[in-house]
Amino acid sequence: MPAKVVVIGSLNMDLVTRASRLPRAGETLVGQTFSTVPGGKGANQAVALARLGADVAMIGCVGTDAYGSQLRDALLAEGVDCQAVSTVDGSSGVALIVVDDNSQNAIVIVAGSNGQLTPTSLENCDAVLQAAEVIICQLEVPMDTVGHALKRGRELGKTVILNPAPASAPLPAEWYRSIDYLIPNESEATALSGVTVDSLDSAKVAATALIKAGASKVIITLGAQGALFADGKGFEHLAAPKVKAVDTTAAGDTFVGGFAAALAAGKSEAEAIRFGQVAAALSVTRAGAQPSIPTLHDVQGFVPS
Ligand code: RIB
Repeated sequence: MPAKVVVIGSLNMDLVTRASRLPRAGETLVGQTFSTVPGGKGANQAVALARLGADVAMIGCVGTDAYGSQLRDALLAEGVDCQAVSTVDGSSGVALIVVDDNSQNAIVIVAGSNGQLTPTSLENCDAVLQAAEVIICQLEVPMDTVGHALKRGRELGKTVILNPAPASAPLPAEWYRSIDYLIPNESEATALSGVTVDSLDSAKVAATALIKAGASKVIITLGAQGALFADGKGFEHLAAPKVKAVDTTAAGDTFVGGFAAALAAGKSEAEAIRFGQVAAALSVTRAGAQPSIPTLHDVQGFVPS
């Protein structure tokens, strides 16, 4: 059966250390643990979709190193269709991650093979896009590839979701008209809109600017403060479930995957946001990127405190 949801994006091997705090410039800290964990925003979203009940295919690139086959195998083990995950010469994407005792993290990514996913790569697997209902992109692959995916998704009449992560600058203006759901966090919404997002009110101002730019609907994730939905007619603030955070890595990815899985299953936008929020809340109670992502069973069994 063709996948209903297609994720176009990155696969990274996360090299994770835990330390009491994040290092300062020029400082050497002694870490407590080290682990290698499959990650990458695209792959994390694909895993979230699969664990949360969606038929999902991934389009991306891994390298010829050992990480490449490990990253592909991690997706296959979740039932993600990897026929459009290519192996290209060179190193796979990696992310260097430090997580501190307050569960905050600092991440440096090196694109590696993710940088080799081109518009031509997408043309070569256009059938995967044609067969899908929902197309999801992030920003850890080249910008012209993301631009191509958004435009093609709109031409094909698909539901197009952009999680603009990581974003540090405004998006190309022509992208907005292709986006059904734009899902930034606070810092990404700030980078995209020019409005400093540090409160619910400022999130409303930023969301209004992003809708004016052309996005149909905007969901700004606000961490422990929940999420703001805006559709140009009004706003809805959805509070986040309260949990004890251990590691916030991949919480945003889990929200996007959960939201899209629920949307693909025919849920309303408000239901899909709540589902994504529960999935993301559960993910922060566990360490690591893909290992932290809950299953449908976990989400259905969640009891708010
Ligand atoms: O969103 C979390 C992800 O960001 C990590 O898995 C890391 O690979 C980086 O891409």
